[in-house]
Amino acid sequence: MQNNNAPIGVFDSGIGGLTVVREIQRVLPFESIVYLGDTARVPYGIRSPQTVIRYSLECTRFLLSKKIKLLVVACNTAAAVGIDRIRETVSVPVIGVIAPGAKAAAMNTKNKKIGIIGTEATIKSSSYLKAIKSFDESIEVFSCPCPLFVPLVEEGWLDGDVPRLTASRYLGHVKDMGIDTLVLGCTHYPLLKKVISEVMGSGVTLIDSAVETAKEVKYELQSKGIEGIASDAPVREFYVTDSPERFKSIGERFLGQRIENINKIELGV
Ligand code: DGL
Repeated sequence: MQNNNAPIGVFDSGIGGLTVVREIQRVLPFESIVYLGDTARVPYGIRSPQTVIRYSLECTRFLLSKKIKLLVVACNTAAAVGIDRIRETVSVPVIGVIAPGAKAAAMNTKNKKIGIIGTEATIKSSSYLKAIKSFDESIEVFSCPCPLFVPLVEEGWLDGDVPRLTASRYLGHVKDMGIDTLVLGCTHYPLLKKVISEVMGSGVTLIDSAVETAKEVKYELQSKGIEGIASDAPVREFYVTDSPERFKSIGERFLGQRIENINKIELGV
């Protein structure tokens, strides 16, 4: 029997998944959330699928020990390469960020040209491409890895010449393809929305996978009858595999609020 008061488990390679937590909190304010950021082993985006899957299964195991009722794979890279393996190993519902973002993009495009940006591992996996094609085979997809966006966001360089030039350089190709929809396929990219949208122009809709994932989480909880009860005070717990101090200072920018209750744990030992 599932318990409505059980928390939702969310994991990411580090801090970025807090953009997904922020959206879940917005649409589901009564839910308790246990977040795990594998900050000691970030970034996942440059690693092999085997390594990302191993790390993701360790994160999953830890969150299951917290008696979660639903698992959210907030890391695009982990969802792109590991979601099937994760689903095989758990009995709770699992939501990844890829399918909701892909669906929203497929529904949005008018000219059937979609751009995808993400980490190298996410783009190499072709998982957004496959998910979009599953909605409509005739949609053309143009992908581009944007690895420098992650450190820029973590440095807090969200605006100004450096992010603008970086974005122009990365996005020039997908822009030239005449896309009308661009999927922000990485946890960090929603923080660069302003710059990305300036570079792409007003004719291109940006799809925020975090927003779409939160909607999907709400739908899943409702359809399974396991939403949190409004009168309960939701609990928010944060676990990291490296220094809680760095997670706190950068994470508060991602989450848009103060973060208390951060605990350091070890995975894979
Ligand atoms: N969280 C990762 C993602 O969404 C970005 C950071 C990393 O490479 O681990 O793909």
